[in-house]
Amino acid sequence: MTNDVIIQFKNVTKQYDNDPPVLGDVSFEIERGKFYTLLGPSGCGKTTILRLIAGFTEPSIGEIYFNNKNINHVPANKRQVNTVFQDYALFPHLNVFENVAFGLRIKKLKNAEITAKVKEALSFVNLAGYENREIREMSGGQKQRVAIARAIVNEPEVILLDEPLSALDLKLRTEMQYELRELQRRLGITFIFVTHDQEEALAMSDEIFVINEGKIQQSGTPTDIYDEPINRFVADFIGESNIVKGKMMNDYLVEFVGREFECVDKGFNENETVEIVIRPEDLEITALDRGKLQVKVDSQLFRGVHYEICCYDKDGNEWLVHSTKKAAVDTEIGLYFDPEAIHVMRLGETEEEFDRRLETYVDGASHHGK
Ligand SMILES: Nc1ncnc2c1ncn2[C@@H]1O[C@H](COP(=O)(O)OP(=O)(O)O)[C@@H](O)[C@H]1O
Ligand SMILES: [Mg+2]
Repeated sequence: MTNDVIIQFKNVTKQYDNDPPVLGDVSFEIERGKFYTLLGPSGCGKTTILRLIAGFTEPSIGEIYFNNKNINHVPANKRQVNTVFQDYALFPHLNVFENVAFGLRIKKLKNAEITAKVKEALSFVNLAGYENREIREMSGGQKQRVAIARAIVNEPEVILLDEPLSALDLKLRTEMQYELRELQRRLGITFIFVTHDQEEALAMSDEIFVINEGKIQQSGTPTDIYDEPINRFVADFIGESNIVKGKMMNDYLVEFVGREFECVDKGFNENETVEIVIRPEDLEITALDRGKLQVKVDSQLFRGVHYEICCYDKDGNEWLVHSTKKAAVDTEIGLYFDPEAIHVMRLGETEEEFDRRLETYVDGASHHGK
């Protein structure tokens, strides 16, 4: 473990009663000072991971380390972590100042010190001058800022944010995304942010953990995850994708929709069944005979920057195309794509299996895309 690792999960399983595990054998590392996002559908285990980090619950199996020390049994109030909850959890009978001051009063700091720290925290979230406001006089976005000020005033090493923007309307939500990201950079504190919104995750994060059914499916930078999804779940959850069944003929040669295509992937078994992902923006509309695929245009929508064109091939597969060119509904067109646009995925492979497979390649080169 390097010095930069602040939190480590080692084979953590969390199970309630005899139900199937909520988290199954999860391992990961969080590095100091970065913005992390836990991304996945409702019920996949995101909040459970935050609760384990915060100390509101303990693992059934496995270990959690904080600054290289096992914290499995360290109570929540002894951890260098503060949580911003989805519903803000502010105290309605206290004004803005006292909401932010609450933790400092418990720590019995002197009044002058409390005043200085609360003022600083409020100015960090652009709420200087709002000290005496009642919580009920604050808008949704302002309450959100109070909740963040209340977390940062304690100067924790890590701030956990559980879907903090989901109650806000779209415009305010986008503004807060910028503000939060900027705040994290200025403070240099590690943020672990939870969302089920893939665009939000791509826009904000240094690192994303894509989670499904209590397992980390893939972790990496937004571009890693967008460009090189590891399995169908990730490809489908992150951005729009065309996904079809295929067969790996040899290294660099894959078959789908009844034809063989040059690709950049290798290291699969001969004739292995695989899944193919091509992003809508990697498909180019051409004349019928110049296309690598021939499809019929089913519908078309103008999306402001591009047309979203929905087509079907002869096997009935749907192909979504993002193009600045128009296509006429009910006509047949060709679709062209580069070998690099084809992403080949092994069926149901998780990141750990993918990494193990990479290690078995003699030359150590990645088979997966670039
Ligand atoms: N205290 C609990 N007892 C039993 N099951 C729980 C408890 N807390 C969470 N779960 C279950 O764990 C799963 C994951 O929950 P959670 O971590 O809250 O998901 P997410 O935050 O990703 O929506 C859900 O199926 C939920 O019902
Ligand atoms: Mg949750």
